[in-house]
Amino acid sequence: MTVGKAAVIARRVYGRLRFPPMAISFPDNFLWGTATAAHQVEGGNWNNDWWVWEHTPGSGCAEPSGDACDHFWRYPQDIALLADLGFGAYRFSLEWSRIEPAEGEFSRNALDHYRRMIDTCHENDVVPVVTYHHFTSPIWASLAGGWEAPESADRFARFCEVAAGHLGDVVGIHCTLNEPNVVALMGHYLGVFPPGKRDEGAMDKAIYNLIRAHRLGYEAIKAGPGRAPVGMTLSMHEFAVEPGGESQMARARDRMEDVWLEECRGDDYVGVQTYTRLRFGPDGILGPADGVPALQMGYEYWPQALETTIRRASAVTGAPILVTENGIGTADDAQRIQYVTEALQGVRRCIDDGIDVRGYFYWSMLDNFEWALGYRPTFGLVAVDRETQARTVKPSARWLGEIARRNRLET
Ligand code: GAL
Repeated sequence: MTVGKAAVIARRVYGRLRFPPMAISFPDNFLWGTATAAHQVEGGNWNNDWWVWEHTPGSGCAEPSGDACDHFWRYPQDIALLADLGFGAYRFSLEWSRIEPAEGEFSRNALDHYRRMIDTCHENDVVPVVTYHHFTSPIWASLAGGWEAPESADRFARFCEVAAGHLGDVVGIHCTLNEPNVVALMGHYLGVFPPGKRDEGAMDKAIYNLIRAHRLGYEAIKAGPGRAPVGMTLSMHEFAVEPGGESQMARARDRMEDVWLEECRGDDYVGVQTYTRLRFGPDGILGPADGVPALQMGYEYWPQALETTIRRASAVTGAPILVTENGIGTADDAQRIQYVTEALQGVRRCIDDGIDVRGYFYWSMLDNFEWALGYRPTFGLVAVDRETQARTVKPSARWLGEIARRNRLET
């Protein structure tokens, strides 16, 4: 037989062969969820520092949050949709300014509202993961010095005590603070979040007080009803360095991550929240590398960062890991599926290496208010019509919901 004939036969035989898809399973009881934050989805949160910031000329905010996704009223349908898609957990946050609208005055109505939300989760077989502080503080707290004030940690702990006292028996997992490392940096050093400072001293005070707030909040929640795990979540990055950028990178990694991770040792879990990598050169942070796509947020498409950060969080803290946020802002839903596929492959490799990863929460369930950037970035599995509030399920929502239902990713 000539080489040519052999090639024709080989093509006929192998062309018909279909290789079975590769399946990656996840451990039993692995939590599959999505996440939101009160201010980004509820609407009408006019009594907090972010609302003021959005309406401050020169703050750089793209637009006000307004009615957001009206999730304050639509949560029953949203949670039912999430469950219907296949997810077994929902991470959302309490709006401190609703629960304690003036210092020391607690709203029974607001507490009952969040209790109904948690009950709705249970009715839908969804584990409620409750964050006590996701970036927003009541106006009275920010007027009293915000996170720079020495009393700020005690104020937060009192709020945790009251909220956990009312809700602790039904919460599935507690999270004290969301990304306090971002609150300290963006609000006090980069000036893009409230209170809009660019002052290293202010950032240092905020770091000190936020760490103390986590510790006191943790204890207050533990002292309350229920036995649910308690931890905090941190913004993490893969760090890359170009020649000459070593010291910049080391300094940023220490202030942005290490001081915080060290605080999580001994907690019930650490929440890892990763979106991309950061590259450093001699003058600080660099933009996206040549050949790496840039996303709506301006940073690189870099799903492999999740694996890197899980490994680091686990090595530094020794605590179990929950991926409390991972996702992509993109108008291209196929790119979202690709991103999450690559991220989940990394999660599985961590588990194979013996790291105790307990769950994965996609950010976000809904297209929502992306802080200073407004509604332009679209992270959601579900689109929201800004005029009518109508929800449209994207293909990625059904895809990830199916993975959640089967506890298995097929690639
Ligand atoms: C996180 C934050 C979320 C969301 C997300 C996407 O830092 O916790 O609220 O905005 O980033 O950028």
